[in-house]
Amino acid sequence: MNLELLAAQARTCVACGLSKSRTHVVFGEGNPDAKLMIVGEGPGEDEDLQGRPFVGRSGQLLDKILEAAGIPRQSIYIANIVKCRPPGNRVPEPLEAKTCTSLWLLKQIQLIKPQIIIPLGATALEFFAGEKLSITKVRGKFFEWQGIQIFPMFHPAYLLRNPSREPGSPKHLTWQDIQLVKKTLD
Ligand code: URA
Repeated sequence: MNLELLAAQARTCVACGLSKSRTHVVFGEGNPDAKLMIVGEGPGEDEDLQGRPFVGRSGQLLDKILEAAGIPRQSIYIANIVKCRPPGNRVPEPLEAKTCTSLWLLKQIQLIKPQIIIPLGATALEFFAGEKLSITKVRGKFFEWQGIQIFPMFHPAYLLRNPSREPGSPKHLTWQDIQLVKKTLD
């Protein structure tokens, strides 16, 4: 099995109701040998139309965050908890998340074997933590999951709603967090 084959299988997936309203399956993209993997919640409107993760406003901000730490987007792998856009960008239902991660995300992680995974926001964090945790409390700290270092960070959509750059603000903290990721990777 490899990522391309897995992606081809995912493109025909009808395992949950999200498949009915999608334009594209947004499988994920990037370096198959990435040391760093980023996991978001699910495709938004732009991602659904283009079939690529994090290409809308959140994606543009994510690009800036990565750039600030000197992490090329092509060097990492980017995926989501669910591969099809939830209608109106609602949070994926627990069964949708469970079905999709079991079929696709877990296999992506097994193939890529990253050293670090950054879950962006509460939905991705819940998958790795196995429980609902406050991102504000756990961001910027590593925990281990199946031998992989997990480093939760704020979701860029949250940062777009909280644009302050004051010391201690979510944006300020995020710019610090990504530097720590870069240092740990080197
Ligand atoms: N938000 C996400 O969580 N994932 C995307 O791919 C885009 C926006």
